[in-house]
Amino acid sequence: MKVPGRFITVEGGEGAGKTTQLAFMRDYLERNGLRVMATREPGGTALGEDIRTVLLSPRRDGMAATTETLLMFAARAEHLERVVRPALAAGHWVLCDRFTDATYAYQGGGRGLSFERIGLLEEWVQGDLRPDLTVLLDVSVAVGLERAGRRGAADRFERETVRFFERVRAVYLERAKRYPERYRLVNADRPIEMVRIEIQSILASWLERIGGWALALARAVVATASVTRCQPALASCVAADWPAWLGQADLCPSVGPGFVV
Ligand SMILES: Nc1ncnc2c1ncn2[C@@H]1O[C@H](COP(=O)(O)OP(=O)(O)OP(=O)(O)O)[C@@H](O)[C@H]1O
Ligand SMILES: [Mg+2]
Repeated sequence: MKVPGRFITVEGGEGAGKTTQLAFMRDYLERNGLRVMATREPGGTALGEDIRTVLLSPRRDGMAATTETLLMFAARAEHLERVVRPALAAGHWVLCDRFTDATYAYQGGGRGLSFERIGLLEEWVQGDLRPDLTVLLDVSVAVGLERAGRRGAADRFERETVRFFERVRAVYLERAKRYPERYRLVNADRPIEMVRIEIQSILASWLERIGGWALALARAVVATASVTRCQPALASCVAADWPAWLGQADLCPSVGPGFVV
């Protein structure tokens, strides 16, 4: 069974856990037999990473909001043309650490640039390409900044004020409300493992929705594996239903022998 490529983005403020959770998401999707390409913005290409260095450098303090936004979209144009679109066309699932929602949140909410202008650039650079799914890791500003601060010297964004980050967070939350079909909101103040389990369950329902019963079986197998680690009794209940699932496994080679949990 071939599942066509999908575009999944992970969003949230500083230290929300995007990079940490994206690694788990990649692993989970790969274990479900999907080909995954993990990437990030700004960046994801050689030129994009150069632009990222400029954008994050504290030496560029005071950069105009318009310049910052145009650089974000310049990096994005390169990323979409050279990496994201070709990967999707080849059937990969693209997992991207930040995308245009971050531009609305940071340059729109944070810097005060009009959403209309950002929308114009979005249309120009992306055409009709939008993420299929966006996982928003919502973290309180103080918690996120404390986590990010543990990493060492602050980048140009991390030096912003708490009020800046409150505006960023508010825009993310508004967008999650406005696009409920695409967004999944996750409370990222909780420990890594709890966040991971919730995201895994989000991905599992999503896979089930788009992939039918075959992917539901994949979900059951993986969920059982993770439940086994914390609640053996519950795991055996789930496992008791396996014969019914496995009776249909010959209909779906992708979840036959060799399927990894
Ligand atoms: N839920 C969590 N609870 C506690 N610590 C966490 C949690 N998620 C991530 N961390 C830790 O916080 C730090 C920042 O996490 P991570 O780099 O994944 O965040 P990020 O959202 O990618 O940050 P940035 O916006 O700066 O890229 C890391 O040291 C990570 O181990
Ligand atoms: Mg990160």
